[in-house]
Amino acid sequence: MRIVQFSDTHLSGRHRQFAANAEVLRQHLAAIDRPDLFVNTGDLAMDGAGEVADLEFAAAWHEGLSAPLLAVPGNHDVGDRAELRPDQPVDDARLAAWRAHAGPDRQMRDRDGWRLIGLNAMLLGTFHAEEERQFAWLEGALDTSAPIALFLHKPLFIESPDEGPRGYWNVPPAPRARLLALLGAADVRLIASGHLHIHRQTRFGRAAHVWGPSGAFVCGESQEELGGQRLLGVIEHELAADGTVSSRFVRPEGFRELTIEPVVDEIYRKKQPA
Ligand SMILES: [Fe+2]
Ligand SMILES: [Fe+2]
Repeated sequence: MRIVQFSDTHLSGRHRQFAANAEVLRQHLAAIDRPDLFVNTGDLAMDGAGEVADLEFAAAWHEGLSAPLLAVPGNHDVGDRAELRPDQPVDDARLAAWRAHAGPDRQMRDRDGWRLIGLNAMLLGTFHAEEERQFAWLEGALDTSAPIALFLHKPLFIESPDEGPRGYWNVPPAPRARLLALLGAADVRLIASGHLHIHRQTRFGRAAHVWGPSGAFVCGESQEELGGQRLLGVIEHELAADGTVSSRFVRPEGFRELTIEPVVDEIYRKKQPA
């Protein structure tokens, strides 16, 4: 099964600074020979958490892809933890807008002997009632003997599973520990995320941890050094029948490594780059 992961498209009809890269991505995806599934690991919209119009625009952009789409929400789609974005917390209205325009914020698909799970990472650490519901749902989703591929927006961790908080960049320690305990009891082979606008591939135990690059922009000086490569691209994952995974970084011809910093104030007003 071939899954093409792209991420952090930051699409908007109002903010067109990265529209040329979106067009390069669209043409690249259209030219891929018979993919089984596309995955967008979040931040589909430039500022969907601020303007529903951006979510609508992003959802429309994904129509007509040559394979089904599994999309998970990012902070710029449904908001973030209140301590990080008091002006854009994850709340009922933002979750409802995502579901109306992009579909379920968590989902599970069985295909070719694999279980594919899309998780709403933005709920983790919010204490929103949906966070508990999602954990309960996840326990059921992980109750399978099939190999599992998990897709979510924020990486669980940057360097190690037991690291402390990294603010904006990772899943906070308490929900991460809970999540890792659940994942550790299942046959999880791939954990693929977005958010950092960085490509990196590592392995912890049985699971490959893949950071999917953005298709819109990279971060410059506003992002601390997190390792990996600040390149635009997509990832082609091959999920084999024997449960093995191979992931390949592909850089579409024509992408320009534009950075967010020159335009971050006009787009986001506050410094929330990735
Ligand atoms: Fe993000
Ligand atoms: Fe992003």
